[in-house]
Amino acid sequence: MNFDSAAGGSGPRPEEMPESCGIVIFGASGDLTHRKLIPSLLGLYQKKLLPDSFYLLGCARSRYSDESFRETIRSGLAESGAISQAEIESFLEKCHYLAGEYGEPGLYILLSERLASLDEQYGGKGNHIFYLSTPPNLYAPIVGNLGDAGLAGQREGRWARVVVEKPFGRDLESARALDAELRGHLEEEQIYRIDHYLGKETVQNILMLRFANSIFEPLWNSRYIDHVQITVAETLGVEHRAGYFEQAGLLRDMVQNHLIQMAALVAMEPPTSFEPNRLRDEKVKLIRSIRPFPLHELDRWIVRGQYGPGELDGRSVPGYRDEQGVAPDSTVETFVAARVMVDNWRWQNVPFYLRTGKRLASKATEIVITFKSVPYSIFSPLKAKDLVPNVLCLNVQPEEGVSLTIQAKSPGPKVSLAALNLDFGYQEVFGASPPEAYERLLLDCMLGDQTLFWRQDGVEASWTLVTPVLEAWADESLNTPLNLYRSGTWGPAAACDLIERDGRCWKVPLASIHSGVRFAEGFPAGGASEK
Ligand code: BG6
Repeated sequence: MNFDSAAGGSGPRPEEMPESCGIVIFGASGDLTHRKLIPSLLGLYQKKLLPDSFYLLGCARSRYSDESFRETIRSGLAESGAISQAEIESFLEKCHYLAGEYGEPGLYILLSERLASLDEQYGGKGNHIFYLSTPPNLYAPIVGNLGDAGLAGQREGRWARVVVEKPFGRDLESARALDAELRGHLEEEQIYRIDHYLGKETVQNILMLRFANSIFEPLWNSRYIDHVQITVAETLGVEHRAGYFEQAGLLRDMVQNHLIQMAALVAMEPPTSFEPNRLRDEKVKLIRSIRPFPLHELDRWIVRGQYGPGELDGRSVPGYRDEQGVAPDSTVETFVAARVMVDNWRWQNVPFYLRTGKRLASKATEIVITFKSVPYSIFSPLKAKDLVPNVLCLNVQPEEGVSLTIQAKSPGPKVSLAALNLDFGYQEVFGASPPEAYERLLLDCMLGDQTLFWRQDGVEASWTLVTPVLEAWADESLNTPLNLYRSGTWGPAAACDLIERDGRCWKVPLASIHSGVRFAEGFPAGGASEK
């Protein structure tokens, strides 16, 4: 398949250039900064998408000088090899550092002075992005101090934007409390709540696919769609994030944000324009129309699991409770599967099955839309149920692309059918992997475009759905099972029961088929549950 602008596609368009700005990263010595933020800014620099007056000011407690901060960046980047050393060095010249305690007002006086001098040095116009890449309990104190130091205000054409990393609270009440703190110093239009899944090209492609083609919309409803599956599977375990994860669990970490966002993009009504608030209006409307999980039979709607020891890529891996920093009797979930119903005209009786887990058989994020079978088969003796239904698969990662399964005549006897795939592979068509999601999001923030960021009403709608489940799971008297599964499988048997009760089964992700890993397996055989 070719990307053919001559055949009517509008083709690649030049990116807009952001106006003058500098970025301050709080939490500059942290993992996210070095793994994602700096490489993404460097990527934008290489593509000449940063303004000439751009600079980066890292801020954290570690006592770095400008030079030693640059050295930490340099050593972190050394292995990539994709960008020339000269480009890295000229980017590094724009990187600076300020050490201090986030809760100390004195830091913000120094910050204000430093920003004034960097603006002067680079010819900046006083526009600043403050990126909160710190533990969430520091968001409110940092924003409060920015406000008190006069750094959060917007006047005389200068802007200040604050990027907030998830989690936005840990339930509905705390999300509202956090917002009240932020809004004490910032307008909603200044707050950029990041969900990096929205920055993935393939997630944005859901919108292009649905709303830049006319062939899908007539079929995009309960008349033609049987069900939707959204899978986000990871092979990684909790890694070095036990401190955070023990407090969060997977429902907060992945479902409340990434999975709900993807479901909203698949299911929402067409927005009136590709304008931030019009798009977000539709997403919020959709999230609000998701049926609350029935608490009296929760296990039939949402199941949780936790990984035990197992094998991945030919090596033994420990169970969650044996990971460093995890309580030996932890009941934190590392797997969630849910059956979600959307109560509106379009989606009546079409289940959305969501599934996500750590230490699963392979890394894969896929949205699979299964269409209904034909109403009647003319190909006797084959019955309608013998014909494989059409499946539209949006491969978000790692094999980015789209595929549509159709039935076609296969060579041989007169009535002989085979399922064929019409495939679009991102790498094959565009000759490269999609850019890092944070590149898109950082650029959009500089451009003042909030389309791909959460708005507070969406955050609250999503917590409204998830909070009662969190409360039920935390309530020991309800005895909700925690299903153990072996690492390297597709999760607990309870996840299969959830979908098989409806006469359906989980699709094996494409990446897994290619790596030869087959279907679900419980722990031990058949799955075990606890509590
Ligand atoms: C993050 C979660 O938001 O997303 C992590 O906090 C998870 O637990 C990560 O590993 C997955 O992101 P990706 O882009 O690798 O699918």
